[in-house]
Amino acid sequence: MPASARPAIARRTRQMALPALLVMGVAAISIVLFGSTARAQGTGSAQPAAPATTVPAGTHNHALGNTGGTSYQDTELGTGSASGRQLYVQACASCHGTDAQGSARAPTLVGLGSAAVDFWIITGRMPLEVPSQQAMRKNPIFSTTQAKEIAQYVASLQVPGYVGSVPQGPSIPGPIDLSQANLAHGGELFRLNCSTCHSLTANGGALSYGAYAPSLVPDTPLEIAEAIRTGPGNMPRFSIAQLSSQDEADIIKYVKYITHPQDRGGFNLGHVGPTTEGFIGIVVGVGLLMLAAFWIGDRA
Ligand code: HEC
Ligand code: HEC
Repeated sequence: MPASARPAIARRTRQMALPALLVMGVAAISIVLFGSTARAQGTGSAQPAAPATTVPAGTHNHALGNTGGTSYQDTELGTGSASGRQLYVQACASCHGTDAQGSARAPTLVGLGSAAVDFWIITGRMPLEVPSQQAMRKNPIFSTTQAKEIAQYVASLQVPGYVGSVPQGPSIPGPIDLSQANLAHGGELFRLNCSTCHSLTANGGALSYGAYAPSLVPDTPLEIAEAIRTGPGNMPRFSIAQLSSQDEADIIKYVKYITHPQDRGGFNLGHVGPTTEGFIGIVVGVGLLMLAAFWIGDRA
């Protein structure tokens, strides 16, 4: 190569280095932006993460099939244990009434079904301490066994004068088996049915009317299943026709996966998914390749 050509190549290299640096800059900015969307939406950082997959084995094993809340009879309930009654009277009756008929301070619980009552206790929402627009998740004061006893007691209550027994909403599901659950399908269903409120990363988000869809990070599979079937607060409830038991397991598996991802080294890129990762991979990769190519070309 004639010596006079060298300065020209060096100049060209300098000219090309600029676009390459630009590309790298865009990559860096995307990492910062995508990385922080997840964090900006997150609110549950102060909440302790619950154990991911252990679900206390239920004493009864109903499929969550009865979500219409109109015709279901839980044959294993109907009596309600003495300790369930005692706990209810101590912790709940002052607001919800001795027969759970409701009062000026709190809604009726008759006919809700054991899953709903269980959900509100194990997520710490009840007993309510400070009345607010929306009962918040906090550390539960009852064990899961106590919660179940209260829930079964409440589900056993009848309305005086009502002919027949009051139709109950869904009952507490049995052990939740995620071994056959399909992660990819769960992701699809989550993006379709849940992400508008809970955000794509399940970190929660504000709803337009002042309500708040919480982060799903601390939720156990049982809590997610109960929320899907009973629709707490402003959340819609999903019937078995809308989401089958298999769909439910798929969604739970996906939620547990994105809220407790296993990052095997490297940046998590906000856990937004393969599109972002591919995009950043291409931008960074192509940027590096361009730099390498110019460096080699310069030496030749
Ligand atoms: C200080 C009063 C108070 C106490 C004590 C209390 N609650 Fe509540 N409860 C409320 C209020 C108010 C609401 C409605 C809040 C909301 O929708 O966010 C509510 C809502 C609920 C709901 C949801 C009702 C529905 O229609 O979806 C359940 C279930 C429930 N409470 C169960 C219980 C149980 C079980 C206990 C006892 C362990 C209890 N509550 C103790 C005031 C109370
Ligand atoms: C229309 C908005 C909306 C949609 C859609 C929605 N949710 Fe919710 N979700 C809420 C709100 C609001 C709450 C809080 C209810 C309350 O505490 O009053 C909630 C609460 C929950 C909770 C309890 C969180 C906790 O620990 O406090 C879980 C779990 C949950 N949702 C899962 C789901 C899943 C899974 C889907 C999709 C199948 C879904 N939600 C769809 C609005 C929504």
